[in-house]
Amino acid sequence: MTNDLWEIIAQRRSIRKYTSEDVPDSVLEEIVAAANQAPSACNNQMWKFIAIKNKEILSKCEQAVNAELDKMKEWPEAKGFENKLEARKKAINFYTKAPVTIAVFMTEYKYYDPDYIDMLSRHGYDKEKIKYHLAHADIQSIGAAIQNLLLAAEAKGYGACWMCDPLIAAEPIREILGLDDGHRLMAFIPIGKPANRPGPRPKKGLNEVYQLLK
Ligand SMILES: Cc1cc2nc3c(=O)[nH]c(=O)nc-3n(C[C@H](O)[C@H](O)[C@H](O)COP(=O)(O)O)c2cc1C
Repeated sequence: MTNDLWEIIAQRRSIRKYTSEDVPDSVLEEIVAAANQAPSACNNQMWKFIAIKNKEILSKCEQAVNAELDKMKEWPEAKGFENKLEARKKAINFYTKAPVTIAVFMTEYKYYDPDYIDMLSRHGYDKEKIKYHLAHADIQSIGAAIQNLLLAAEAKGYGACWMCDPLIAAEPIREILGLDDGHRLMAFIPIGKPANRPGPRPKKGLNEVYQLLK
């Protein structure tokens, strides 16, 4: 294992199959501490991490996801699509097979200058327009924290996968975890020792995504 940042970035993969080896609580704390060091808008740290090792709780989350997919099967638009929806159950719920899954929640973002926000709202900016104007900085902050978390897991020799698919059951999962509606589920991150090491995913060339203007 290496601690060289460049190698950790290059080696990281989304890992979707895990051995049964536990992730020690002390390692989890270190990984979440790395997430907590991420930059956040106005240093709000508008995040909360819940590490779930309890299989009963994970099974309840799985049931909540499956219930949402079953509801979709009743939609007229789902005609002929039912098998795909059924197959999604397995594809979405692989987090239940990981020794631990971290649920990442976003809490309220308080902009440093409330008078500025007040001015915008009095000038006809509704909630959505204000969020856009602030570049969804709360969501960006959560992304930074999650990336720190993934890199820290990699550095500790674990594999992880950033997952948004289970969020079709975001509200029921929040309730299962006993959190109030000031918490918005943003991701599930299953973590464990990789059962296999997939090769690198194809990435766009730098020439496609980068431009230097001098
Ligand atoms: C915001 C976000 C949501 C994602 N949601 C899922 C998901 O629900 N299920 C899944 O298997 N992978 C998910 N991924 C992982 C991507 O599929 C993966 O990062 C991408 O294919 C590139 O592979 P790599 O991470 O190995 O480089 C998600 C990644 C991101 C950044």
